[in-house]
Amino acid sequence: FSSSLALQSAIKNVTVIGGGLMGSGIAQVAAQAGQNVTLVDVNSDILAKAQKSIGNNLGRVAKKIYKDNPQESEKFVTESMNRIKTATDALSASQTADLVVEAIVENIDVKHQLFQKLDQIAPDHTIFASNTSSLSVNEIASVVKRKDKFGGLHFFNPVPVMRLLEVVRGAETSETTYKSMMDWGKSLGKTCITCKDTPGFVVNRLLVPYIAEAIRLFERGDASARDIDIAMKLGAGYPMGPLELADYVGLDTNKFILDGWHKKFPEEQLFKPIPLLNKLVSEGKLGVKTGEGFYKYEKK
Ligand code: NAI
Repeated sequence: FSSSLALQSAIKNVTVIGGGLMGSGIAQVAAQAGQNVTLVDVNSDILAKAQKSIGNNLGRVAKKIYKDNPQESEKFVTESMNRIKTATDALSASQTADLVVEAIVENIDVKHQLFQKLDQIAPDHTIFASNTSSLSVNEIASVVKRKDKFGGLHFFNPVPVMRLLEVVRGAETSETTYKSMMDWGKSLGKTCITCKDTPGFVVNRLLVPYIAEAIRLFERGDASARDIDIAMKLGAGYPMGPLELADYVGLDTNKFILDGWHKKFPEEQLFKPIPLLNKLVSEGKLGVKTGEGFYKYEKK
């Protein structure tokens, strides 16, 4: 995360919209890389929470990098934190941005409203990117004029830990925009892969149907949940089994993505609704966060 890496990117001022789980992580890694960040959320309590958690995370990172040097460690945290401003007004916060990364709710109408307004106010050179997991980047971009300066930057949770960044080229993303997005991702220390704007990009296009197939296998009674998970850990070398992973991600999130894709691609068997998944969600059994999904968890 040395700041010299940030020299590779022409992007110096980043506005991150949405201060939740993903947005706060994106703000952190950009600030660590030496960039000026404005983190925006409609809710100022969320911004306060984000600043606190970024501070704690940076403290942990600093301890690792500067093991025997508490002074340098403190400097790293203070300097990185000083690079992050917060705001509740996305429009004024985007007036000096080279890059706007959107990480708000996964709802196409809300994203459209935001980008339509941003397009009017942001400087001409500003690149827009969405961190969407399951929506189409082209569809989100459809409301802006700068379609050549629009792409997908799909991070993974937790952002400071997960090394991958999927850089999504929309149908009209220009070569210059694509290169800037790749350079920016590398400046954060991420490994970037490129993909087209297709449902789930690479990781979720493979992972979501895989989890869905595991749920169907369990639903049919072909094997127990525990045995399915053991099988994939010991037989395929995966660190987590698919049902454990489903519980960790949240069964509501799995259902939300599957339902969205099913609506758009009704013929695709892999995206078909799963009665067991729908039942668990309707019973409020959403996985780790509610204390029960395919397994039971102690509530925190
Ligand atoms: P979250 O619910 O933790 O955070 C979203 C934040 O956006 C909330 O704090 C909310 O107050 C704020 N917000 C909503 N509308 C807004 C607006 N118009 N202007 C400013 N702020 C607004 O959600 P999370 O999990 O961080 O997801 C955000 C985006 O990232 C979604 O598009 C999601 O699909 C995507 N994503 C999520 C991943 C995950 O593991 N949670 C992984 C990769 C992408």
